[in-house]
Amino acid sequence: MTRVALIGAGVVGSSWSLVFARAGFEVAIYDADPAAAARVPDFVRAALADFEKQGLSLPEAAEAIAARVRPASSLEEALVGVDYVQESVPERLPIKIDLYRRLDTLAGPELVLGSSTSGLPASAFTAEMATRSRCLVVHPINPPHLIPLVEIVPAPWTDADAVGRAKALMRSVGQSPIQLRREINGFVVNRLQGALLGEAFRLVEDGIVDAGEVDRAISDGLGLRWAFMGPFQTIDLNARTGIAEYCRNLGQMYYGLAKELADPRPWPAELVSRIETSLRKETPAGDIPSRQGWRDDFLAKLVDFKRRQL
Ligand SMILES: NC(=O)c1ccc[n+]([C@@H]2O[C@H](COP(=O)([O-])OP(=O)(O)OC[C@H]3O[C@@H](n4cnc5c(N)ncnc54)[C@H](O)[C@@H]3O)[C@@H](O)[C@H]2O)c1
Repeated sequence: MTRVALIGAGVVGSSWSLVFARAGFEVAIYDADPAAAARVPDFVRAALADFEKQGLSLPEAAEAIAARVRPASSLEEALVGVDYVQESVPERLPIKIDLYRRLDTLAGPELVLGSSTSGLPASAFTAEMATRSRCLVVHPINPPHLIPLVEIVPAPWTDADAVGRAKALMRSVGQSPIQLRREINGFVVNRLQGALLGEAFRLVEDGIVDAGEVDRAISDGLGLRWAFMGPFQTIDLNARTGIAEYCRNLGQMYYGLAKELADPRPWPAELVSRIETSLRKETPAGDIPSRQGWRDDFLAKLVDFKRRQL
């Protein structure tokens, strides 16, 4: 396979185009708004120029990579000669259902359809399709051209071959797939993030620490390890003989904490506003885009640093 189609050229679709083009694929990108698709080659050029400024290596000349990204003027045109579609249209069920209905009539016999959806199970928008056994979720973490993890989440009717092909494709473009055995709300990443956010809001609401201190607990603490090790690897190294000793020593304490957390709370508007006020002192609203640039710069360097350690 040398060619893929991307449907939706917003925040995530644009970044996907760089993932595939950088790996040598011809990329046809279609968006219901032609202006959005037309902007993607410039986005790719700018992102590649940033890589060069950061001193990061590219597999070939930036212009050769950018030249492989081609806006398509229709869904039909985008699908010509492709065996894989990455869909990144808005997270609204009626939009996805309508699009997949159209894709169903256009899909060739080999086509695999991966959705970027953050939270909708593929079974919610593919149930009526003749080609539903080749549909699944391939959920990136934004922006996928910098963050390699993808969550592969098959619907109950997705066949093993489609799952295997999506996984192999993700590996071949340098992403790092994990495969969920079945559909579950929030997949894995947002379940983990949700557990942490629930506790973060609770700590501020109860006046234990302020928002900045919660952020530092991660950025100057836990997050330093988490950039290269998961929670299981972390605790495995936090006892002389490994995870079993750690759990013997601290399992009861964590069980006690889990019981306190068993009572979930909503995030009230007043609390959100208090945390927002605190965040805006460091990042005024107008500075959010430049702060996103700072984040991407940091991420690019961190990912490159990690690659060089391996
Ligand atoms: N933004 C994130 O952080 C993030 C992260 C992971 C996954 N996702 C998921 O990726 C998907 C896209 O999110 P986004 O943030 O890129 O959205 P976005 O709003 O930035 O982009 C969506 C694009 O889809 C286009 N579009 C709308 N209807 C269409 C249709 N019928 N056919 C073709 N194009 C259509 C829009 O014109 C727009 O350009 C969502 O499912 C979202 O949950 C987003």
